[in-house]
Amino acid sequence: MDHVQALVDQYFDRSNGVLQIQGLPITAIAETHGTPLFVYNAEAIEAQLSNLRQALPQRFNVCYSVKANPNPIFMKLFLAQGCGLEIASIGEYERAIQAGCPPEQILFAGPGKTEAELHAVISQGIGEIHAESLTELERLGRISRELGKQTNVAVRVNPTSEAQGGAMQMGGKPAPFGIDEENLEQALDLIAADSHLQFHGIHLFVGTQVLKHEVLITQYRKGLEIAHHAAQYMDTPLSTLDFGGGLGIPYFGNETSLDLEGLRVGLQQLMEEIDGDPYLANTQFLLEPGRFLAGPCGVYVARVNDIKVSRGKKFAILDGGMHHHLAASGNLGQVIKRNYPVAVLNKLEQPVEDAIDVVGPLCTPLDTLARNISLPEVAIGDLVGIFQSGAYARAASPMGFLSHPVPPEVWVERGQAILISERKPYAH
Ligand SMILES: Cc1ncc(COP(=O)(O)O)c(C=O)c1O
Repeated sequence: MDHVQALVDQYFDRSNGVLQIQGLPITAIAETHGTPLFVYNAEAIEAQLSNLRQALPQRFNVCYSVKANPNPIFMKLFLAQGCGLEIASIGEYERAIQAGCPPEQILFAGPGKTEAELHAVISQGIGEIHAESLTELERLGRISRELGKQTNVAVRVNPTSEAQGGAMQMGGKPAPFGIDEENLEQALDLIAADSHLQFHGIHLFVGTQVLKHEVLITQYRKGLEIAHHAAQYMDTPLSTLDFGGGLGIPYFGNETSLDLEGLRVGLQQLMEEIDGDPYLANTQFLLEPGRFLAGPCGVYVARVNDIKVSRGKKFAILDGGMHHHLAASGNLGQVIKRNYPVAVLNKLEQPVEDAIDVVGPLCTPLDTLARNISLPEVAIGDLVGIFQSGAYARAASPMGFLSHPVPPEVWVERGQAILISERKPYAH
């Protein structure tokens, strides 16, 4: 089946060729809230979380990675479902607290944490801080001492190369993320020597957008090995082992969804392999996905504002573009531009005609959302949608570029469409 059709069937609905979200036609939502906008289907998030949990052994807990989509409603949904939150800045920390997250359910990872950030989270309380360098460990110890606090520290390890995987590599090679596995013992010595640091866990995260469960299992096995070694070195059982995020979703026609059954079986096998290991007997295992949980629920919706033919090539010009969705334009880490799943949302059942380019209103050729894509005949006023846009779409886009309005976000839950962030005239 066509990739877009499959996504519509899995996460949304259609009626008379119009995309529906929990029975609400996208045409009506766009009429009420204007375009361009982001629309999220809460049921799709719940389905992703529940499907993932079915693949996880009991000892696993899920922490939502806030950077994927920091809107408080996402955090509230995950908190209500018993998840923790993984944050990477003081801004995300504050938003997590405002969303009602108990500080002890927050993990703080990410390189380059500042003194001010560390001071703020340690004084207000935090579950675990994941140290990304030896300097950071020293800072953590000093600030904890100044504040008279004990801080739970996990060491994020950049493993040696055998645990690679995923489209965007973050480890297994020189990287700003984590402490090289070769220096792990030095990091552990620093923690052991500091009475204000509590050795709590190991964190391993080497790649995002992983679609093969075998790759994840290989990484997790490596994580278990490192965790065992670290706990043995410290001669103490390990409290947490964070396997990171990185679970992928299919963006392009040639990609297939992560095989969750394969993941379940692989994890089961790993649990058997560590059975009887005293250092890992009571370890809480964590996953911190962002994309997998938040991606599929979202559609970016823009209206066709103009259609033109230039030297035989047809362009649909939208009222939104790469300033709202950098990833779809191919400028967020894609090596070769490939088209995201794009559809004319009010013409889902019409036959496709010749390929056209779908572009935004910015004065740069980078603002191309889809190139040579076969769509039904597009008319001014049609709604074009980009699927898989709940994660790293709005949140990872240069919304200030050209001072266009910031698109609103609409959340659909129990058949109601709620405006969760308003349109702003411009970003700054
Ligand atoms: C430390 C950390 N955890 C979790 C995530 C979430 O990754 P993903 O959205 O691929 O699951 C990221 C993404 O960059 C990250 O850096």
